[in-house]
Amino acid sequence: MDKLRITGGRPLNGEVTISGAKNAALPEICASLLTADPVYLNNVPRLRDVATMRLLLDNMGVQTETHGERGGMSFVAPDSLNPEAPYELVKTMRASVLVLGPLLARFGRAKVSLPGGCAIGSRPVDQHIKGLQAMGAEIVVEHGYMVAQLPQGRSRLKGARIATDMVTVTGTENFLMAAALAEGETVLENAAQEPEIPDLAEMLIAMGAKIEGHGTSRIHIQGVDRLHGCTHQVVADRIEAGTFLCAVAATGGDVVLRHGRADHLDAVIDKLRDAGAEIEAGDGFIRVRASGRLKAQSFRTTEYPGFPTDMQAQFMALNCIATGTSKVTETIFENRFMHVNELVRLGAKIQTDGKVAVIEGIDRLQGATVMATDLRASASLVIAGLVAEGETIVDRIYHLDRGYDQMEAKLRGIGADIERIK
Ligand code: UD1
Repeated sequence: MDKLRITGGRPLNGEVTISGAKNAALPEICASLLTADPVYLNNVPRLRDVATMRLLLDNMGVQTETHGERGGMSFVAPDSLNPEAPYELVKTMRASVLVLGPLLARFGRAKVSLPGGCAIGSRPVDQHIKGLQAMGAEIVVEHGYMVAQLPQGRSRLKGARIATDMVTVTGTENFLMAAALAEGETVLENAAQEPEIPDLAEMLIAMGAKIEGHGTSRIHIQGVDRLHGCTHQVVADRIEAGTFLCAVAATGGDVVLRHGRADHLDAVIDKLRDAGAEIEAGDGFIRVRASGRLKAQSFRTTEYPGFPTDMQAQFMALNCIATGTSKVTETIFENRFMHVNELVRLGAKIQTDGKVAVIEGIDRLQGATVMATDLRASASLVIAGLVAEGETIVDRIYHLDRGYDQMEAKLRGIGADIERIK
C-alpha cells in the first residue's frame, strides 16, 4: 500500500493548476447514460473515483474513452445495455448511486447495490428512493440491491414535486437527471445549491433539457422526450482549491491557484482572511499569501453557501497550529472527526464532544506516522505533515488518490518535501 513521506517546515511558493471537480465529474459521467449520442467531457480529473465510475459504466456496456492529456473523456451509452451496478464497484464509492436516476429515466429499470457502510457516517439513500418513487418508480430493496422499475404499461417516469427531508447533493443530482427525461414538470424543493449542481444542470441543458432555478433551492424541470449529446467542461474543484489555500495558509508562502474559482469558496476564503492570510482573486485565479502563525477560526459546516463539510478537516489542521482556541462544529455527517486522533498523534491539542471539536492552537506539530481514514481526513494529515517538525508518514493514501489529482506532484511543484513510497 502506498504511503507519503513528508518532511515539514518548508513554505510553499509558485503556481498550481486546479483540476476539474470530482463531485461534478461523477454525476456528469452518469448523465451520459441519458442519451445514445456521444457525450464529451473536458477537464475530468485523474482520480480513482473517476476510474471506478468509468468501470461501472464499462461494465454496463457503455463505450468509454479518454482523449489527450487534458482530461478529455467520451461516453456512448447504446440503447441496449445492462442497467446494473454491482456491489463490488459500488462498495468503494457511494457516488455510484448517481446511476439510479438516469438508468430509470432512460431504460425504465435499474439494479443498483446499496452503498453500504461508510467511514464518515451511515449515509443512507432513503431520500433518493423516496424521490424516485414520487416520480412513479417501483423500488424494492432485496439482497442488498435497490431494484427499480416502472409500473407495467409506463415507459417514462412522471414529473413530481419532491421535497427532501434534508438537503442532499447527490439526491438533487439524481432527481435532476431523472426529471430531465420524465413526462411533465418536476419541482425540486429544498434542492442543494452546491456549484456542482448548476454545473450538471448546464450540461443537461446543453443536452436539450429544460431546467430553471438551478443554483437556488427550488429547481423546475420540464421533462423532454429525448436528450442529445454534448460537450461539457467540468467546473474547477473548489475543494481541491480550498485544500491548497489551507496548505499555504498553514506553511506560509505565496501561491497562485490557476483555474481556482474564488466565488465558489466564499465561506472558506472569509475564514482564511480572518485568520490573517492575504487572498486576492480574479478571473480564473486565486492568490494566497501567508506568513507566521495565523489566528484560529471557529466555524460550523453547513450546506452551500456555508462552510463545506469537505473542508472541515483541512481547516482544522490549520487551527491546530494557529494562535488561540477554536471550536469546529460538524453538522452534516455524524462521524467526521476521524482525523482528530491522527492529528493528536502529531501533537495537536483537540477535544471532541459529539459534533463539536475544540482545538487549542500550539506552536508546532511533530512528525509521526499517521493513518488516513477517509478522503478529506487524508488531506488534513498532509497539511499537518507539511507544517510538522521532522518526518511524517501518511499511511493508506489510497483514500487521497480517490479524490485528489496528483496531489503530491502538485505540492512538490510548489516546494513541498513530499514523496510517495510504493
Ligand atoms: C456529497 C458529496 C460529498 C459531500 C456531501 C455534503 C458527491 C459525490 N459527494 O455527498 O463530498 O461531503 O455531498 O456536501 O458529490 N442523507 C440521508 N438520506 C439520503 C441522502 C442523504 O439521510 O438519502 C444525509 C446524509 O447522511 C448526510 C446529509 O444527508 O448526513 C447530506 O448528505 P448528501 O448531501 O446526500 O451527501 P452526498 O450527496 O452523499
